[in-house]
Amino acid sequence: MTAYKIDHIGIAVVSIDDAVPVYRALGLEERHREEVPAQKVVTAFLPAGESRIELLEPTSEDSPVAKFLKKRGPGIHHVCFAVRDIDGAVSDLRQRGFRLINSQPALGADGKRIVFLHPDAGHGVLIELSEDAPEK
Ligand code: CO
Repeated sequence: MTAYKIDHIGIAVVSIDDAVPVYRALGLEERHREEVPAQKVVTAFLPAGESRIELLEPTSEDSPVAKFLKKRGPGIHHVCFAVRDIDGAVSDLRQRGFRLINSQPALGADGKRIVFLHPDAGHGVLIELSEDAPEK
C-alpha cells in the first residue's frame, strides 16, 4: 500500500465557529461542514493546497473528541493519509502486525471509507487512512 498524500490534519476544538477565524486569516476557507454521527462530532474542512485542515467539534460528552479535549485540551488530534485501496491497506497493516481501532473501514465525513490505527501503533499519533479514488 502507499499513503500517497496527507489528506488532512484533524484538529480537536471546543467550537468550530471560534476556531475558523484564525485559519481564515491564513487565507483558508471553510468548504464543507457536516455532522458525523458515528464519531459524535461535527467536522469542518478547510482546503490548504492538496491537503486540508479538519476541525472537529464534539456533539456529545461521550464523543472520543470530547474525551480528547478533556484529557489533552484543544490541538492536533490525528493525521489522515489518503490511500487508493483501503481494504488492501487494512489487510496489509494487519499482516504487518499493526493494530487498528476499527476492524472494518467505517464511513467518515464526505462518505469516505476510513480506518484509524491504534495510537500505540503511531507512537502517540493517531493515524487515519481515507480511501480516495484517483481523479477521473
Ligand atoms: Co479525519
